[in-house]
Amino acid sequence: MSDFDVVVLGAGPGGYVAAIRCAQHGLKTACIEQGLLGGVCLNVGCIPSKALIHASKTYKKAKDGANMGILARDIGIDMVAMQKWKSGITSQLSKGIGMLFKGNGVTHIQGRGVLSGPGQVVVRGADGSEQRVGYKQLILATGSSPIQIPGFPFDNEAILDSTGALALAQVPASLAVIGGGVIGLELTDVYARLGAQVTVIEATDRLLPGIDADVVQPVERKQKKMGVKHLLSTKAVSQRQVDGLIELTLESAGKPLTLQVEKVLVAVGRRPNTRDLGLETIGLSLDARGQIPVDAQQRTAIAGVLAIGDITPGPMLAHKASREGEVAAEFAAGHSGAAMDPVCIPNVVYTDPEIATVGPSLADLQKSGKPIKIGKFGFGALGRAMTANATDGFARMISDSATDTVLAVQIVGAEASELIAEAGLALEMAATTQDIALTIHSHPTMAEALLEAAHTALGHPLHALK
Ligand code: FAD
Ligand code: NAI
Repeated sequence: MSDFDVVVLGAGPGGYVAAIRCAQHGLKTACIEQGLLGGVCLNVGCIPSKALIHASKTYKKAKDGANMGILARDIGIDMVAMQKWKSGITSQLSKGIGMLFKGNGVTHIQGRGVLSGPGQVVVRGADGSEQRVGYKQLILATGSSPIQIPGFPFDNEAILDSTGALALAQVPASLAVIGGGVIGLELTDVYARLGAQVTVIEATDRLLPGIDADVVQPVERKQKKMGVKHLLSTKAVSQRQVDGLIELTLESAGKPLTLQVEKVLVAVGRRPNTRDLGLETIGLSLDARGQIPVDAQQRTAIAGVLAIGDITPGPMLAHKASREGEVAAEFAAGHSGAAMDPVCIPNVVYTDPEIATVGPSLADLQKSGKPIKIGKFGFGALGRAMTANATDGFARMISDSATDTVLAVQIVGAEASELIAEAGLALEMAATTQDIALTIHSHPTMAEALLEAAHTALGHPLHALK
């Protein structure tokens, strides 16, 4: 049996970051991974989805450039080439993690790890081989998988999960997307831009529940403009194959509906990978959602066992997993000062326009009764947004009326995914809107939307009338 100071189970953005940091702290570290290094995020999540988002945007921009004097004719789509380009990026990044492991001295063990009592993991390789790996401390980072709904078993031919939807070799003529959440809307954008007729089926009465409705509105509007249909308060009940198509039976406000499409994507959320891990052999229990409860230092109820990423409560996001990986590694190395601050986790939806938020929603802050100041600035009045042909959306800064401390920022607009970093720093440092207003922002930039929102919150907007 090989023995390690720390064993990390799973090499997604949580696990691989934790393993690298542990090794950098001088701990003898192994990382066990059953699939490809980089986990969901790098191989079948964040990175491939953003590649297809970028490629489809490039295609649409070229087609829609006439108002800027760009007349592109004979533009086509070679989906196989697009997929090849996407896979080149993911494989390069995954190999990069292997090199980082080597360079930092992390032992990469390939296979599926299952706990077999305190201090021990049994790893089964794809070839049936088995090895025992001993640990002093264990970091669990096994991630999450798509949820299936009754009547819609994934076959990744007709009924797709996100992995299948990211690997299509042809643009379907029609696509039903069950779930108007993050995955649903990002991939709706991709396939609508590439020419598919997309219908979104969402159980609740709005898209992206959890994000302020006015922030979601520009995205909804733009999708409608591309011909996307949003069926809200609608449930997918069943499906059957009819003449090479899939006929869906839906229920909308108590009334039955049918819809025929070429493909169906089911994106109704993800469940933590905490089953069949042998957690019971070390006495570790799960909460009602199947996740592992942890404290701010990622400690579970069992001494020497930490957990990070999608298997722990909170949003299922790559940057949350990575930060938790760093926090867990600090604890494992005996530095107990690091802690996770959930308020500072940004949330980005890579739709067009992009949505990016940090801190509570406006609706939640209003419900809390806390006295707040709000500064909002529309991209329509921003020079850089005009030159980028991207004037949809706004930035909103919310601060505490009494202290001026920034509490939350919501942005919907081009480059929101980049702009939110400044807002994240503001929350982390407990900056005030005055701090943002005093920060000299380059001109012309989209980031000036935040500067203007701060001025507006302070009651003296420069480029808008009060
Ligand atoms: P994972 O990335 O799920 O990695 C867990 C790893 O553990 C996997 O590689 C798995 O093979 C391995 N594993 C599991 N069990 C075992 C075992 N018993 N033995 C060995 N190995 C095991 N988040 C963002 O922040 N931004 C985005 O843009 C974004 N886009 C996304 C797009 C899609 C389509 C999807 C599906 C997700 C997206 N996410 C995004 C979410 C993000 O991918 C996850 O939050 C993130 O990957 C979680 O990281 P993790 O380390 O907890 O787990
Ligand atoms: P989600 O939780 O974002 O959205 C699921 C949606 O499906 C919700 O709107 C929900 O009301 C709806 N729904 C649930 N059951 C339904 C049913 N039976 N019929 C119709 N609608 C139903 O989950 P999603 O989109 O699957 O993404 C999973 C997670 O992956 C996200 O929560 C996010 O954490 C992560 N992710 C993050 C991204 C990013 O950061 N940009 C991109 C993609 C995924």
